[in-house]
Amino acid sequence: MPLVPMRQILDEAAKGGYGVGAFNVNNMEQIQAIMEAANETDSPVIIQASRGALQYSRLIYLKKLMEAAAEEYPHIPVAMHLDHGNSLETVRTAIDLGFTSVMMDGSLGEDGKTPNSYEQNVEVTRKAVEMAHPLGVTVEGELGCLGGIEDGHGAGLTAEETEAHLTDPVQAEEFVAKTGVDALAVAIGTSHGAYKSARRDPNTGEILPPKLAMDRIHEIHKRMPDCHMVMHGSSSVPRELVDIINKYGGKMPDTYGVALEQIQDGITHGVRKVNVDTDSRLACTGAIRKVFFEKPGEFDPRKYLGPARDAMKGVYLKRVKAFGQAGHARDYEPLTLEDMKEVYARGVRIKA
Ligand code: G3H
Ligand code: 13P
Ligand code: ZN
Repeated sequence: MPLVPMRQILDEAAKGGYGVGAFNVNNMEQIQAIMEAANETDSPVIIQASRGALQYSRLIYLKKLMEAAAEEYPHIPVAMHLDHGNSLETVRTAIDLGFTSVMMDGSLGEDGKTPNSYEQNVEVTRKAVEMAHPLGVTVEGELGCLGGIEDGHGAGLTAEETEAHLTDPVQAEEFVAKTGVDALAVAIGTSHGAYKSARRDPNTGEILPPKLAMDRIHEIHKRMPDCHMVMHGSSSVPRELVDIINKYGGKMPDTYGVALEQIQDGITHGVRKVNVDTDSRLACTGAIRKVFFEKPGEFDPRKYLGPARDAMKGVYLKRVKAFGQAGHARDYEPLTLEDMKEVYARGVRIKA
C-alpha cells in the first residue's frame, strides 16, 4: 500500500468515532515497533517526524524507512506526517520528500519559540494549504500555544500568558474557515516532554497532574462537529516506565502525563489525532538502561536496541487499543495523493 493521505485516516476515524495515535520517530527501531504494533492490532497509524528528526536522520533515511514500513505491511494504512513544520520552506521540503501530510505550526514563529500573532498564523497556514492541497497533501494547523495552565510550564510562558494562549473556540471556527486546514491542533494546557506540570500540592509539596481545559475541546466540537482536532503533548508518562529508568541508574523526578481517560474524553469530542513521543522515549531509555545495568559487558547494539524496540512496541500496543484505532485498518480502501488532489479540487473542506 502506498502511504495514504492523513486526511483520509482522520475522516475514517471520525466516522468510526475513534482516535489515531501519531507517533514521533527518529530511527528504524521506532518505525518497526509502531508497525509491529499496528499489524498485530490491525490499526491505521500516523508516523510523524519533527524537524529535529529530519535533521538527525538526514531526511532521506527517514523517508526510506517510512516507505519500507508501508511496503512491509501493505494492509495497514500509514500516513507520513511532518510534525511542527516551522516555515513554508520546511513544509515544502517535507512535501518534496513524499510526506502525505504536513503540520504548519504558525502558532509560533520560524524559531519555533516566539508566539506569532493570530494574523501571522492565518497567513502562513493558509499559504501552506495553498501549497499542499493541489498536491493532495493534508495540512494540520495549530491555534494557541502549548503550555501548562496555572504554571505556564512547557512553552516558557507565564501562567497568565498560557491562559491567554489557550485555543479560543470562536477564533478556531474563523481560523479553520480562513485557512482551509484539515486538522486543528488545540492548546488546552498540555505541553511537550516528560514534565508537563509544575503544580504542587500546597500541603505535601507533591507534584500534581497537569490541569487541562477539556471544555475548550467540547466547545470546539459543538461548534464544528466536522473538525478533526489534534491533541499534542499527549504522552501519559506512565509511572512504571519512569520507575524502570530510575531503577537502573536514571534520575527522573516525579512527574505526571496526560491521563488516558482525558484523551478518551477528547476522542468522544472530536479529537482524531493524538501525538505521542515522550512515552516511547521513556520505554526505549528504560530498556537500554536495564541491559547496561544487568550486563555491563554487553557491547552489541542489537542486544540493547532489540529490547528497546520491544519496549516501545509495548507502549504503542497500549495506545492504539486505548485510542480505539485497533481493528480499523481494513475498514476502507486507501486513497492516494492523486485521489486526494481531486477531492480538494472539488472544494471539499472542513465545515466551519
Ligand atoms: O514536538 C515535539 C516532539 O516530541 C518532537 O520532539 O523536536 O525533540 O524531535 P523533537
Ligand atoms: P509528548 O511529548 O507528550 O509525547 O508530545 C509529543 C507531541 O506533541 C509531538 O508533536
Ligand atoms: Zn507537538
